[in-house]
Amino acid sequence: MNRNGNGKGNGKGNGATNGNGHGNGATNGNGHGPGAPHGNGNGTNGRAHRKRGLMEAVRPLLLRRWAGPILVVGGGGYIGTHVVEQLLAQGWRVRVLDRLLFGKAPLQDFFGNPRFELVEGDATDILKLIEAMQGASAVVHLAGLVGDPACAVDESFTRHANVFATRLIKKAAQSLGVRRFVFASSCSVYGINPAEVSETSEVNPVSLYARTKVESERELLSDADEDFCVTTLRFATVFGHSRRPRFDLVANLFTAQAVNDGRITLMGPSQWRPFVHVRDLARAIVAVLDADPERMRGQVFNVGDRRLNMTIGQLARLVQESVSRARRVEVVELPSKDLRNYAVSFEKIRRELGFEAETLMEAGIEEIVAEFTKGTYGHYRDAVYSNLAMTKRALSDFRRQTAHLYEPVVAAAGLRSRDGLGNGAGLAAPHVEHVLEADPEDRLVAGLGSAVVLL
Ligand SMILES: NC(=O)c1ccc[n+]([C@@H]2O[C@H](COP(=O)([O-])OP(=O)(O)OC[C@H]3O[C@@H](n4cnc5c(N)ncnc54)[C@H](O)[C@@H]3O)[C@@H](O)[C@H]2O)c1
Repeated sequence: MNRNGNGKGNGKGNGATNGNGHGNGATNGNGHGPGAPHGNGNGTNGRAHRKRGLMEAVRPLLLRRWAGPILVVGGGGYIGTHVVEQLLAQGWRVRVLDRLLFGKAPLQDFFGNPRFELVEGDATDILKLIEAMQGASAVVHLAGLVGDPACAVDESFTRHANVFATRLIKKAAQSLGVRRFVFASSCSVYGINPAEVSETSEVNPVSLYARTKVESERELLSDADEDFCVTTLRFATVFGHSRRPRFDLVANLFTAQAVNDGRITLMGPSQWRPFVHVRDLARAIVAVLDADPERMRGQVFNVGDRRLNMTIGQLARLVQESVSRARRVEVVELPSKDLRNYAVSFEKIRRELGFEAETLMEAGIEEIVAEFTKGTYGHYRDAVYSNLAMTKRALSDFRRQTAHLYEPVVAAAGLRSRDGLGNGAGLAAPHVEHVLEADPEDRLVAGLGSAVVLL
C-alpha cells in the first residue's frame, strides 16, 4: 500500500494551494457523522448542561479522529481534492483510492498530514478496493469517466469504469460493513426538459454518461436499507479552481478562452444549465456525511443553487464582462449539437440541509482569472486539463488488459441488437447519442478545442 505518498512537494503547477478552502464546510454540528451515535444529550440542570456543552463541542472532533477513515474513491480529481481538504479540515481521517489519471501532484498538499492515506489503484481492482475499504466509516464515490465526450470514446470502457465500478464498490462496502455511501451523480440525468426539474421529475438521459449515472443510482438506491445508508447527489455543472484544474467545463473554459485568446466560442446560447462552485459541492458532500443518516438514507439531492441556473449565453456575457476589464473579449457563436436543456430546482437540499452556494459565478470567474494571473496553470488546452484527452490515453491500457474479457460481451451485444433484443445493457443500447454515431477518431479529435463539456 502506498500510504501518504512520497512527501515531496513540487511547489508549482497543480500542487498550488488556493488558500481559501478551510473552515467553510457546512457542518451542522449535531454529532451525526458516519458511525456516530445519535442523540444530543441535553442535560436537566445547569451543571450537567455545562459539562455536556463542553462534551458536545469536543465529541464530534473526537469521534472523527476515532472513527475509521472516510474513503474518497476518485479523491485525486477536480472535486475530490476539495472534498479531501474539507474533510481533513474538519478532523476526519481520509483515505483516497484513485488510479491517479491526473497524477499525484493534486494530492501533494495532503501527504504530510498523518490523517491522510493514499491507496493508488483502480476501483475495479478487487484487492486494491478491499484494501482501501478496510475499516472505513463511509465511502464517497467520485471515480469514473466524466462527461459526455469522454464517455463516448469507448462504451465498454465507460460501462466498466462507471457502472461496473459502482457495483463493485457497493458490494465491497456492504461486505465490509461500511454503512454510509455518498454517490456523485449528475443533473445531466434530466437531459432535455422544458420545465424546471426536481428530484421527483422523470430522468431523461441523452448521453451514455448520463445513462451510466442513472444505472449507478438505481444500483445503489435499490439496496438502501437500515444497514446501508446511500445518498445520491446530482451535481450541477461545476466551475472554479481546484488542485486538479479542468478547462473542459464550460465556465472554466470560457474564462480560459477570454483570458488567453480574447475570444469565447459560444455554442447553444439559449440552453439552460445549473452551475455550482466546486468548493460548495464539497461542502454539500461534507454536510451529507454530517447529517443524521436516518434523514439521508435512500435520498436523492440536486446539488446547486437557484441563483446559479443560467443560460450558456448569460454565462458567456458574465465572463466577457469580467475579463473585459483587463482586455477586449469577443463572443463568437458556433452551432451546437448538445441537446441538453434543463433548469433545476435545488429546494430540497436547501430545505433539508440548509445548503446554499457561498460562491456565485462572478466570484468563480474572478478566481480562475486570478490563478491565470499568478501563473498557476499551463496552457488551458493541455491534455491534462481535459477528461476526454486523458480518457483516450487511459483507453489503450484498458483495452490491453480487458480485450479478452469484453470481446465476448461486445459480440453478444451485437447479436442481441441484430435480433432486435437489445436492452440497453451493451453496445446495442437503443438511445445512442449523436457523438457515438461519429467515426471513433472524429469523436476523439472533436475533443480538446471544440468540445464544451457541460456535465
Ligand atoms: N465536474 C462536474 O461538473 C461534475 C458534474 C456532475 C457530476 N460530476 C461527477 O463527480 C465525480 C467527480 O468528477 P470530477 O470532475 O472530480 O472528475 P475528475 O476526472 O477530475 O476526477 C475523477 C477521479 O477519479 C479517478 N478515477 C477514475 N476512474 C477510476 C477508477 N476506476 N478507479 C479509481 N480512480 C478512478 C481519476 O483518476 C480522477 O482522479 C464524477 O463521478 C463525475 O461524474 C462531476
